[in-house]
This record gives sequence, structure tokens and C-alpha cells, in this order.
Amino acid sequence: MINAVRACSLLALAVAAMGCGRQDNGAAATGDSAAVRTIEERGRAAFSACAICHSTKDPEAPGYAQMVGPSLFGVYGAKSGHVATYDYSQAMRDANLTWDEATLDRFITRPNDVVPKTRMAFVGEADAEKRAAIIAYLKTLK
Ligand code: HEC
Repeated sequence: MINAVRACSLLALAVAAMGCGRQDNGAAATGDSAAVRTIEERGRAAFSACAICHSTKDPEAPGYAQMVGPSLFGVYGAKSGHVATYDYSQAMRDANLTWDEATLDRFITRPNDVVPKTRMAFVGEADAEKRAAIIAYLKTLK
């Protein structure tokens, strides 16, 4: 290991472009960062499509800023209409769903199919991989 470190610093200039000094990770060395990201990290990136309308902050915390949609903090496993201070549509109030994996997956695919007349103006995410990543990220919001 010491030898490797010394060789690394001696050859730093020559091998800098090959990723010397970075973590020994084949995927990182080839620049394939998607392969080293966890599903939650990919979900966080994909969540940018949701973040224009949804906060991920605790709605009960001081300084919480209400956005167009309700915060999705704590949404995983909760009942539909889970933010007490948010003015949901009648459709969402009557929906009586539990936001588990299957229900979230269907809702994110096509919100209007699951909650007809929902006020969530989002056409849907067709990519199943992205939906799974978003749901994995939602689970971390607690
Ligand atoms: C254009 C704004 C907008 C976008 C984009 C959007 N949403 Fe929403 N979302 C809303 C609104 C508004 C509601 C409340 C709907 C209602 O009351 O009918 C909502 C409700 C929800 C709910 C129900 C929350 C609860 O408390 O029951 C979930 C879950 C949800 N959105 C997830 C997502 C996810 C995940 C994405 C991204 C893939 C997303 N939304 C994108 C506006 C949006």
C-alpha cells in the first residue's frame, strides 16, 4: 500500500488522467459515474422533475416554504393527503390510498389514472427504472 501511494505521488503527473489518488474503483476510473451511484442518489437526481413543485422538508419545521404541491417528506408509507396544512383537491382527499411502493409506482406513472381529477399537473414518468429510483429516494425523506 505504501509503495502504491509513493508510486502514485511520484507518477502523479503522468497518471493524473487515469485517476491516480482517487478511490480504487474501476467504474470511477473509467468515468462511469452512473454505475457507482446508489439507487437513492439516482432517485434524488430524477426527483428534479418533482422538485419544481415538491419540497422535501418537514412541513412542521420552522421556516417550511409551501410550494405548489405538498412536501413529500414522510410520504412513503403515509396515507394520501398526508400533509395536514396542505389544501388538497377533493379528489386527493377522497382517494384513501397508502403510499406504498406499488401505489406510488402507479401514481408516478400516470397520476390521473390513480387519482382522477388530481391537481397534480404532471403527465407521468414512463421509465420504470427512474420511478423505482425516485421511490427509493422518497423512502429516505423522513
Ligand atoms: C406541476 C407540479 C407537480 C409536479 C411536477 C409533481 N407534482 Fe406531485 N403533486 C402536485 C400537487 C399539486 C399535488 C396535490 C394533488 C392534489 O391535491 O390533488 C401533488 C401530490 C403528490 C403526491 C401525494 C402527496 C400526499 O400527501 O398524498 C405524491 C406522492 C406526489 N405528488 C409525488 C410526485 C412525484 C414523485 C413527482 C415527480 C415524479 C411529482 N409529484 C411531480 C404537484 C406536482
